[in-house]
Amino acid sequence: MQSIEDVRTNLLDLITASLTPREVLRSVELKSLYSQLTELAPELRSEFGKAVNALKVELESAIDARELSLDNDDVESLDVTAPWDVNTGPIELLPTEQGTQHPLTKELEVVIDIFTRMGFDAIESRQIDDDFHMFGSLNFPENHPARDGYDTFHTQESFIAPAHTSTMQNRILKSGKDKLEAGGQIAAISYGRVFRNEDVDTTHEHTFYQVEGVFVSEKATLGDMLGVLRAFFESYYGQSLKIKTQPGYFPFVEPGLEFMIEKPAALGGNPLSSGGEWLEMLGCGMIHPNVLRAADIDPEKYQGFAWGGGVERLVMLKYSIEDLRYFESGKLAFLRKFV
Ligand code: DAH
Repeated sequence: MQSIEDVRTNLLDLITASLTPREVLRSVELKSLYSQLTELAPELRSEFGKAVNALKVELESAIDARELSLDNDDVESLDVTAPWDVNTGPIELLPTEQGTQHPLTKELEVVIDIFTRMGFDAIESRQIDDDFHMFGSLNFPENHPARDGYDTFHTQESFIAPAHTSTMQNRILKSGKDKLEAGGQIAAISYGRVFRNEDVDTTHEHTFYQVEGVFVSEKATLGDMLGVLRAFFESYYGQSLKIKTQPGYFPFVEPGLEFMIEKPAALGGNPLSSGGEWLEMLGCGMIHPNVLRAADIDPEKYQGFAWGGGVERLVMLKYSIEDLRYFESGKLAFLRKFV
């Protein structure tokens, strides 16, 4: 049987070492002191009982002290917003060569390269914008149902997550105005991430990429536009292509067109089927006079064309990718195919 003094030393040691010191009050050793009490001769009980109670008081105050010091010392303050513990210095980063470029980034670079070689400037589109750039400057009348077709995300503060890269048209036109009036022309593409409140499936994502093109001069024609687009697609797919257009409605172009290519045999088309399979690649047309006016460009003097379309669709056709969702999925097996 342990003496009170032995139990005291043991339990005080335990308290100093424990992260949950209060458990000591339920220890077997302490309980055994209480059961000894009932076995003692009545005349000894009172003194022993006092000693056990004194021990309990001492233990409780040791527990209080230990809990306080656990609260204060053992939990270091931590800045959860810091990229690493700022007290210990930068963490060792994984070597960057273990990562690879995302297929969309890679293909976007190919697209940008083709257009810049044709003389277009390339600027990235914004990922937060406003009603004027999303709709107003693009000849969407206030409350016009055409706005609904864009399933646009809005913030409570009335900002917009752009649903197309056409948001950049007004900026491109305004910043090119001086050059245009000095006898030059406006030629720029804008590329970037866009967002729509879509139900996600194999061909729809809420987040995707587009490339927009804008060209304005004193005598730009629809024929010039078809030439530029054909040159682009033939360069991107590395082969000659059959193209056609059909009418399409977009408030910011007049006439508005859908641009199509015939799926070539090399990209999975069936050379034996007589009609061929036509794929709609983008929307395009002659820039509406109201869009030029919104950028303070005189539509009597200048005309231009514009186009815009999705990047994923281009890439999916090139590599026979059957599901659009792979791009945003982070699936390594998919991403590594493009290394
Ligand atoms: N912004 C349109 C869309 O996302 C695509 C588009 C159509 C862009 C015609 C254009 C254009 O510049 O002329 O659906």
